[in-house]
Amino acid sequence: MARKRPDELRSHRWYGDPGLRAFGHRSRTRQMGIAAEEHLGKPVIGVINTWSEINPCHTHLRQRAEEVKRGVWQAGGYPVELPAMSLSEPFQKPSTMLYRNLLAMETEELLRSYPIDGAVLLGGCDKTTPALLMGAISMDVPAIFVPAGPMLRGNWRGQVLGSGSDVWKYWDEKRAGVIGEEEWAEIEEGIARSPGHCMTMGTASTMTSAAEALGMTLPGAASIPAADSTHARMAAASGRQIVEMVWNDRRPSHILDERAYHDAVATVLALGGSTNAVIHLIAMAARSKVRLTLDDFDALSRQVPVLANLRPTGAHLMEDFYYAGGLRALLARLRDVLHLDRPTVTGRQLRDVLAGAEVFDDDVIRPLDKPVWPEGGLAVLRGNLAPGGAVIKHAAAERRFHRHTGPVVVFDGYQDLQRRINDERLPITPDTVLVLRGAGPKGGPGMPEYGMLPIPDRLLKQGVRDMLRISDARMSGTSYGACVLHVAPESHVGGPLALLRDGDLVTLDVAARRLDVELSPAELETRRQSWTPPAPAYSRGYGALYLSHITQADEGCDFDVLARHDEVTEPESR
Ligand code: FES
Repeated sequence: MARKRPDELRSHRWYGDPGLRAFGHRSRTRQMGIAAEEHLGKPVIGVINTWSEINPCHTHLRQRAEEVKRGVWQAGGYPVELPAMSLSEPFQKPSTMLYRNLLAMETEELLRSYPIDGAVLLGGCDKTTPALLMGAISMDVPAIFVPAGPMLRGNWRGQVLGSGSDVWKYWDEKRAGVIGEEEWAEIEEGIARSPGHCMTMGTASTMTSAAEALGMTLPGAASIPAADSTHARMAAASGRQIVEMVWNDRRPSHILDERAYHDAVATVLALGGSTNAVIHLIAMAARSKVRLTLDDFDALSRQVPVLANLRPTGAHLMEDFYYAGGLRALLARLRDVLHLDRPTVTGRQLRDVLAGAEVFDDDVIRPLDKPVWPEGGLAVLRGNLAPGGAVIKHAAAERRFHRHTGPVVVFDGYQDLQRRINDERLPITPDTVLVLRGAGPKGGPGMPEYGMLPIPDRLLKQGVRDMLRISDARMSGTSYGACVLHVAPESHVGGPLALLRDGDLVTLDVAARRLDVELSPAELETRRQSWTPPAPAYSRGYGALYLSHITQADEGCDFDVLARHDEVTEPESR
């Protein structure tokens, strides 16, 4: 492809016109202390930054934006930082998932409405990665992703602590009376000790790794710990790279084809990645006009082993993964199932990007003949309880639940669950199937991460650490256990979960990929006739907009109006 001329840049419409409006754009740029020779005729690079004082995973992104800008200037571009909504997983309620599409829309509109020729996307905390990429994909200007990077290992009394996973683990130990207040306070001090996103293979590490596998980051970028000086150098290099991408018009649509999404799914599976990736990758692929379905995940899951020995499925953390060679090394081991001849943001093919990648620790990145788990960690289930599909991360569940039948105890929403889970009158035994409904995309609303339902205290004290749990919610990528998630359609819109009653017998069969309730079609229909739809959670504002456009989990939970493939309309000049 021929290199662009300066007058072919998108920003030229703003700055290069001899008329009145361009006068305003140029004079106002001078007002900011930027001389004509510093920016005219140069690619304008939007540095979309999700830094915020309420997002601990992104505290270093204020500085990283400076490093990106340094790289942009070095390569002859003109960087402009554009702050965007920070989806802070630990603080935002009811769920950052409620706002993923808002950030995606904001990203698209920032790129559309300003004179941006190329974008550097700074994010990493869970939903920020898919959101930023979804917006950039729809706008389809050259874009590169700068992953925030994982935080350093947590530390407590000489033991390594992992985000999320060890919180759930020690919370259960505390409820069971195994550890006390003092130990719990020490864990609070030691579990998050540097900038960066969660350092387990949670949603953040899964999605930043998926972004790299898609070809949307510099090689190796996703595994670098946030606090490592390599991370700052990667940010500057990304700034240099985007300028080259603009001149060569290398856009997301040139990189993100069916092969790229296939490889991203294979990567997530080999990592033992978060179930949230299923929803995000389906939504991202749809933005790229690629049809990716739950069945694609299931088919690849039967072929791809889990190679990354990382919590919650395995033993180690992202810092260990980086020292073991990082994602490039894992992808090199997976090369036989990848498409090596596809492009990346570098302009080089995946084959070249992986050349020379080595594994330095075979326990962290396992060889193909010694996997952590012989199949990908995810299974897609269907049956009369989940006609649209459901997902289980069975590699992170006790094996006895891979085939299990039990009577259900049903909770209607999170408040009901909190109120009653420890009610000793409930007939809950270790074989009971706990069901949470009213926690899906509309019912949640925002499909919160309630899917790892708590085990009742009295069972914890008896030593029970896993139970079969079913919901239309999501689960944190750092969670674990026999949790069937994303049941579609959700109960709020009349999915079969809405029809369950305490005592109904439910069977999970992972090998057969089935999830069924032992009720006849006639009985289900009778119950449906007496079912009343719940009231919507919002009647105004963004919540009402969200409720009228959100799609179900198996479709990626995008807004129907954002998933459309109509051409993006360029703004008119005034
Ligand atoms: Fe930000 Fe886990 S809280 S990635």
